[in-house]
Amino acid sequence: MTNKDGNHDLSLKEDVQAALTTVMDPELHKDLVSLKMIRDLSVTEGNVSFTIVLTTPACPLKGVMEKDARKALAPITGIGEVTINWDAAVPQDRRIADQIGQLFRNTIAVSSGKGGVGKTTVAVNLAIGLAKTGTTVGLLDADILGPNVPRMMGVQTMPPPRERKLIPAEHYGVQFFSMAFLTKPDQPLVWRGPMLHSAIRQLLTDVEWGELDYLVIDLPPGTGDAQLSLAQSIPLSGVIIVTQPMQVALDDALRGLKMFEKLEVPIIGVVENMSGDFFGAGTGETLAVDQEVPFLASIPLDAEVRKGGDSGRPIIVAAPESAAAQAFNELIPAVAARVSVLTLANQPSSIPLQMVR
Ligand SMILES: Nc1ncnc2c1ncn2[C@@H]1O[C@H](COP(=O)(O)OP(=O)(O)O)[C@@H](O)[C@H]1O
Ligand SMILES: [Mg+2]
Repeated sequence: MTNKDGNHDLSLKEDVQAALTTVMDPELHKDLVSLKMIRDLSVTEGNVSFTIVLTTPACPLKGVMEKDARKALAPITGIGEVTINWDAAVPQDRRIADQIGQLFRNTIAVSSGKGGVGKTTVAVNLAIGLAKTGTTVGLLDADILGPNVPRMMGVQTMPPPRERKLIPAEHYGVQFFSMAFLTKPDQPLVWRGPMLHSAIRQLLTDVEWGELDYLVIDLPPGTGDAQLSLAQSIPLSGVIIVTQPMQVALDDALRGLKMFEKLEVPIIGVVENMSGDFFGAGTGETLAVDQEVPFLASIPLDAEVRKGGDSGRPIIVAAPESAAAQAFNELIPAVAARVSVLTLANQPSSIPLQMVR
């Protein structure tokens, strides 16, 4: 390379850098350069290469960003080929580590006003789907009195404790822990509020979770002690409200949503589960629109989903081509993207809005 080319490359690099400051992250509404999403920018003999670091590998807006970046660079004179590489660094909700001393970058609660709507089904398939995108995922069964996560994950026992620390079970790339590991299946659990509170805290703090991009938390039904305890025990990046198409489920879902709003837990969005001819469809979306929160996905009623839950082979693993699995495949990037937005917005104002990892 001649010196002249080198100088030319240097000035091109400045032009490219300047042009990229006009490219906005479509959700964070800030430019890619100030968000520190551009890395390894290099120009060699006019050919440009850089990496865009997404806030989640499951980013649904990758295509939009690529198009915008290429459009911004096109008018630069003397520019050659443009190569865009991709990477991801999930932003970290700093409040979590500060409060409980575990390195969970984000916490996602899955809730509903009512039992049997499919919270655990959503939590399990979501956790597996997020892990499939290459992120580290934990799943905490916070349904202390009705723990169903082990059955749906297909592992009913926990690994032996190490140095008196509880070790999560692992399957389908997800680490998970449940009170079911510590109790006998035929033993009724009759616990009072304060005991529930300390049980939830212990599952959060005493389990050797390690570093997690996402901790998905499966809640019991209702708007009671468990929801309160959780919200008091750990900062939640947000909560997913699961509902069913029937009006009665919807009334309860609305109550659940309002409770989390009161607790200042951001709403990630609404999932309508068991949609179809039998129960109907569309009320979940109406709820989301009315409450001005995102509608995330509509999961069809499908006997295979139930079989997958019962047999410990969740639909996203057992039948990835099925309509239900496809609906989960829409849910996963929608949740990941929204959590990135919420987490960046949740940071104390002393931390500037930027990728924090
Ligand atoms: N979309 C669906 N189609 C068919 N069965 C489903 C679907 N979603 C959940 N189920 C089944 O319904 C039952 C209740 O779901 P579950 O996830 O345990 O609800 P919750 O955790 O809200 O009580 C389970 O047997 C589950 O397998
Ligand atoms: Mg459940």
